[in-house]
This record gives sequence, structure tokens and C-alpha cells, in this order.
Amino acid sequence: MEQLPVFYNLKGRKVVITGGGTVAARRTEISLRSGGQVTVFAETLGDEFIELQGRADFAHEARPAELDDVTDAAMAFGASEDEAIDGALYELTRAAGVPANIADVPEQCDFIMASIVDRSPLVIAVSSSGTAPILARMIRARLETMLPASYGRLAEFAGQFRDLVSEKLESGVGRRKFWERAIYGPTADLVLAGDEERAEEQLRSELDAVLKEEQGQPMGQVFLVGAGPGDPDLLTFRALRLMQLADVVVHDRLIGEGVLNLVRRDAERVYVGKRPRDHTLPQEEISQLLVRLAKEGKRVLRLKGGDPFIFGRGGEEIETLAAEGVPFQVVPGITAASGCASYAGIPLTHRDHAQSCVFVTAHGRDGVIDLDWKSLLRPRQTVAIYMGLTSLDRVAGEFIARGADASLPAAVIDNGTRVNQQVVAGTLGTIASDAAAAELKGPALVVIGSVVSLHEKLQWFEGERSAPNLAERSISTELLI
Ligand SMILES: C[S@@+](CC[C@H](N)C(=O)[O-])C[C@H]1O[C@@H](n2cnc3c(N)ncnc32)[C@H](O)[C@@H]1O
Repeated sequence: MEQLPVFYNLKGRKVVITGGGTVAARRTEISLRSGGQVTVFAETLGDEFIELQGRADFAHEARPAELDDVTDAAMAFGASEDEAIDGALYELTRAAGVPANIADVPEQCDFIMASIVDRSPLVIAVSSSGTAPILARMIRARLETMLPASYGRLAEFAGQFRDLVSEKLESGVGRRKFWERAIYGPTADLVLAGDEERAEEQLRSELDAVLKEEQGQPMGQVFLVGAGPGDPDLLTFRALRLMQLADVVVHDRLIGEGVLNLVRRDAERVYVGKRPRDHTLPQEEISQLLVRLAKEGKRVLRLKGGDPFIFGRGGEEIETLAAEGVPFQVVPGITAASGCASYAGIPLTHRDHAQSCVFVTAHGRDGVIDLDWKSLLRPRQTVAIYMGLTSLDRVAGEFIARGADASLPAAVIDNGTRVNQQVVAGTLGTIASDAAAAELKGPALVVIGSVVSLHEKLQWFEGERSAPNLAERSISTELLI
């Protein structure tokens, strides 16, 4: 991050502004709205200041600012658009140790002004860290249209009950659970519909319910969530929602930072590793960890790459949960074969090439490859092999030894759907050496079948270049949660 986003308390604090034109008027207006005590230094003031005359929190000085004026100010804005005047103000702020913002002079800005969506007391600030103010403004405009004005009322309503809730619910976890219930549930719906009387009844009954839960035996639950192959855009809505509710996230190597960054920020993170032949925590211990955390009353997000029920051992984990009476829910994810094939432009089935598709793993129990070769060699079939990179030489050899044509197209998709995706395409006879030459690091998916020949024509994903605009992506994600 280029800057630290903060919401600054300006109430009753001195704000110094130079200039009497539009830029100064906007700075004045926002400072007054935030409770600042504003003095504007300008020879004359434009029409936009007329309504401010006579206000106790506004003063006009028709002279240049001096050191005494700036001392003790909370902040100063150079907004005269005159280099000499604003530059002089900047010098004063250096002497007084006051943060300054000089319009259109980035190197003289200790802070920048964000684009704001004001649903007070709910305020959303968008910044491009000074790099693309127009983009920030465009995002702000979109947010304006997407957020009903009544969200401000909802924030205000919640604010009225903050003290009551803090008094009744001692634990931070309890308070958070309560507010999540209120904001995601019928209480919020009633406020947004304008029925605050019934909203209050609903809120009080939910408060009682949470209080009872707090006093009883705590029991959390486990969300077994498929996070897809890597691109955060491939998460489901449900996955995103549960990621916001988690107290603790238990994740492994396949979960990239892009996805982890969407988990509730203050959720505890537990890494349980897992590379082939490097099991940081044995499976049974992972299952027991989930049980223990849930029994402590926590909402546990067990985040798995792809789909938890496809070569993910999700079944084993929830078997343990079921046996221990721990409530759980399972959220499917886009499995690697589906995600990687789409992003590599390889349709897994195609009328001219393949009528069936099988998913297999080359990593059997204790590392032994134990595949039903006969069924894999069926004509007009695509074979997607998980965990097949390290044994690719052997697997391709077995295919050929059992009668497959060495010229049958084959591909390896490394880090599929991620910005560093690499696709190596060849044939059964060449794919192992092609992949070795490309020094792929994995995770990688192997695809064997005539559909691979379509890759050249249908490839579209170019990593970073074709990933959707990052700002747009994070904004849409935040709004969905
Ligand atoms: C333990 S399996 C987990 C599969 C996961 N549950 C799923 O549904 O995709 C791990 C294997 O999935 C494949 N895989 C997962 N993510 C991948 C990605 N982004 N690109 C390529 N292969 C991936 C690789 O074959 C990797 O070795």
C-alpha cells in the first residue's frame, strides 16, 4: 500500500486553507462537514463561499497565512492554485509540523483526499494512491449508484444500540456474532424497509438469543470451502460470504494470497501445509484441529484449493466432524481440471474430439501410481491428471506402452488460472521432456487427449494482461460480501 487509509477526527480542530476559488471551496466544505474549524486565507472569496459567511466554524482572512495561523492546526490545504501562495503555506507547515495537502503537487502532499461515498455515518473512501484519480472517481460513482441512501440509516440505527450490546455481551466474539446476525439478517432488512420499530424488536430478540448461546456450551462450526484453483474471481458468492464470518482459517499451500486476502482481516490463520511428500500436519491431525477449534466455539473456515471433494480429502475431514457432532457445511469450488482447462483454452469435451472426460490422480496411497489404465485409454476421452507432474514421464510411458499413440496431444497447465499460468503443449511422446525443459514448479495439471490440439486456437488467458482490472475486481468483491 502506498498510503495508510485512516478516518481522521477533525471535530473542533483548526484547518487552514489558502485560496478563494472552487478548489478551496471544496476543501472548505468537506472540512466543515467533518467538524473542522476552518480559516481561509485569500484576498477575495468566490461565490461558493457566500453561504458560509457568518458561520461560527468558518473565518476568512484577506492576507497571507503566517506561522502563528498554522501552528496547532490539524491540517492545511494549499488550494489557491497559485504556486507561490501554496508553496509559502507548505513552508509554514514544515516549520509547524502540520500535515499538508497542496493541490496538484503530489510531492507536497503528506496525505491525499480520497473520493468519498457519504452515507453518514457510513463513509466509503476510495483512493488510487494519487496514481489515477479519475479511476477512483469512476469507482466512487459506481458505488454511489449501488449503495442505497438508507445504508446511512442502518449505520445510525446500529450506532443507537452499540452501548446496550456492549453492556450485555462481554466478549468481543459474542458482540461480533451478534452484529453479523443483525446486519446480515432481518433486522437490517427492516431498517432498510423503513420499519425501525419492528427492527428494534427484532434486534432485542436476537440479542437475547445470542446471550443465551453465550451462557450455554459454546459450539462453533466448520465451513469446508472450495476456493477454486487460484484466481480469486472464481470463488463462489457463498465462499466469499463465509470467508467474512470466519474466526479462524485453516488453509494449505494451494491457497494463494489473492484468496487469503479476502478472508476477514482479523481471522486467525493456521497454515497446515501439504506439498506432495511434505505433509506439514498429518491428515488426522488436521481433522482433529478442526474439531478442537469448533469445540472452542469458533467458526472455522477450512479453505481448500479447487473443490474440497475432488482429490481434496474433504470427505475424510467431515467424517471426523460428523463423528464428533460438530456442525459443518460444504461449499463446492471450481476444481483444477475445470478451471485450468478453461483458462488454457482446452475444452474438456468437444463433439469432434471427446465425449467423456475422467479426472484421476497420479498420486496414490503411499505415492504408488495405481490407475485403471484400460479405462483411461478409451478413445474420444479426455484424461485430466491431478498431481501428475512429478510422475509425468512414467504416466506417459505407461499410456504408450499400453497402446496409446505417441502423437496423442497432451498438455501440462502449471499454476492454472493464476497470473503466472504456463501451458506446455506437446504429445504423449514429448510432454515429459517439454515440461522438464520448462522447469515447471506446480501445482500442475496434466491433460491428455485430442482436445489439447484446440489450445493453440482457443487460448485467451494471458496472465496479468487479461486478468480483470484489479481495482474493479476488489470493488466488486467487497460489494458482494
Ligand atoms: C491435492 S490436489 C487438490 C485438488 C483440488 N481439490 C481441486 O479440486 O482442484 C492438488 C492438485 O490439484 C492440481 N491443481 C490445483 N490447483 C491447480 C492450479 N492452479 N493449476 C494447476 N493444477 C492445479 C494439481 O494437480 C495439484 O497437484
